Amino acid sequence: MAEMTDVFFVDGMRTPFGRAGEKGMYWNTRADDLVVKAIIGLMERNGDVPKDRIDDVAIAATSQTGDQGLTLGRTAAILAGLPMTVPGLAIERMCAGAMTSVTTMGASIGVGMYDLALAGGVEHMGRHPIGGNVDPNPRFVAEKLVDPGALNMGVTAERIHDRFPHLTKERADRFGVASQHKVQAAYDASKIQPDLVPVAVKNAEGAWGLATEDEGRRPETTLEGLATLKTPFRPHGRVTAGTSSPLTDGATISLLAGGDAVKEFGLAPKMRMVSFAFAGVEPEIMGIGPIPSTEKALKKAGLTIDDIGLFELNEAFAIQVISLLDHFGIADDDPRVNPWGGAIALGHPLAASGVRLMIQLAAQFAERPDVRYGLTAMCVGLGQGGSVIWENPFFDGKKKRK
Ligand SMILES: CC(C)(COP(=O)(O)OP(=O)(O)OC[C@H]1O[C@@H](n2cnc3c(N)ncnc32)[C@H](O)[C@@H]1OP(=O)(O)O)[C@@H](O)C(=O)NCCC(=O)NCCS
Repeated sequence: MAEMTDVFFVDGMRTPFGRAGEKGMYWNTRADDLVVKAIIGLMERNGDVPKDRIDDVAIAATSQTGDQGLTLGRTAAILAGLPMTVPGLAIERMCAGAMTSVTTMGASIGVGMYDLALAGGVEHMGRHPIGGNVDPNPRFVAEKLVDPGALNMGVTAERIHDRFPHLTKERADRFGVASQHKVQAAYDASKIQPDLVPVAVKNAEGAWGLATEDEGRRPETTLEGLATLKTPFRPHGRVTAGTSSPLTDGATISLLAGGDAVKEFGLAPKMRMVSFAFAGVEPEIMGIGPIPSTEKALKKAGLTIDDIGLFELNEAFAIQVISLLDHFGIADDDPRVNPWGGAIALGHPLAASGVRLMIQLAAQFAERPDVRYGLTAMCVGLGQGGSVIWENPFFDGKKKRK
C-alpha cells in the first residue's frame, strides 16, 4: 500500500539565463533544447539515480506553442535520453509554472504515488513574447471583470505604488541597485555558477560559443543612474527597467524524491518540503499575490514569518517584493532576503523562475546550518501568488547567528 511520505528537493540545476531578443545569447537556441540541457546536466550530477525509476517529468511554460508546445515534459524527457517508459506532462501557471511543477510532483510524491520526479520550467521570452499568441476573452474588459491594465505586468506594478504611497520610487530604486550588487558579489564568490549547466549557443554569424553565465547582469548600476531611467509603463511613473525583471530566456529543473526513494538510492536531499499554497488577488495589483499565499503556507506549516530564516522572493518588480516585506514588517534590506540577489539582475524567464528560487535557497541552506526554514515565493500574472516553505536538512539546532 502506498503511504504518505516526506517530499525532498534532492537537487536542482538551470541554464544560465539570457537576455531575450535578437541580441540575446539564446536567440538561435530552441526553448525545448534549453530544458533538455538542464535535464541532462541534472541527471549527470545525480548519476546514481536510475533514470527508469523516474515516475514523471513536469515542465512548465507560459506560452505553450511552437518550440515550447507539444507536452514539454514528455518531449524533453525523450530528447534528454530518459527511457521511453518515463512519462511527462506540461504545466502552466504563468510565472509560477516551475513552482507549480514542483508542488504538483511534490504532492504526487507526498501521497505515495510517485518515488522520483523531475520538475522544472522554461520560458524563451525572445521567441515567445509575453502575451503573444493569446486571445483574452473580451468579457474580461466588457464586463469590467478586470481593468485592461491588469494584463500588463508593469502597469500592475505601478498600481502597487499608487495603492501604497509610502512604498516610494526611491525605495524601489535602492532595492534594484542592491539586487545587482548582491548578484555580482555572489558571482565573485562562485555561489551561483555551480548550479548552472553550460549551453552551446550559435551567434548570428553561425559561430558556436558556450553560455556559462547569466547575461543580463548590470553590476555597474548606481542609484543616480536608475533615477534617470524612463518609466515605460506610465508617463511620469515610478517603475523603470532598473526596478523590473528583464525579459529573459532560460530553463530550470529539479529532482524530487520521497522518503523511501531517498533511502533506497542513498540520496542526500538539499531541502524538505514543509508546505505550499497559492492564492488569488485582484489582477490589477497582481504583485501582492505572494502575501496571501505566504500566509496560507505559513498556516499550513504551523509557522510564523519569524520562523523563516531565508527568503527567496522572485523580483518580478522591486515594488512588488517591497510590498510583501512591508506587509510582514521586514526591512527592504533585511539580510535574510535574497542574499544572492534576484530576478532584477538574473532575469525572470517566467515559467522557469520558481525552481531558480529553490536552487538558490538550497545552496544557501548548505552554508547556513543555523537556519531551519526558508521561503520561496512569487507573484503571478492575473493576480496570484505562490509560496513554498522548505526545511533545511543541515539545520544543526543552534541559535540563529546575529
Ligand atoms: C522594463 C522593460 C520594459 C525594459 O525593457 P527594455 O527597454 O527593452 O530594457 P533595456 O534593457 O533596453 O533597458 C532600458 C534602458 O534602461 C537602461 N537600464 C536598464 N537597467 C539599467 C540599470 N540597472 N542601470 C542603468 N541603466 C539601466 C538600459 O541601458 C536602457 O537604456 P537605453 O534606453 O539608453 O538603451 C522590460 O524589461 C519589461 O517589460 N520587464 C518586465 C517583464 C515582465 O513583465 N515580466 C513579468 C513579471 S510578472
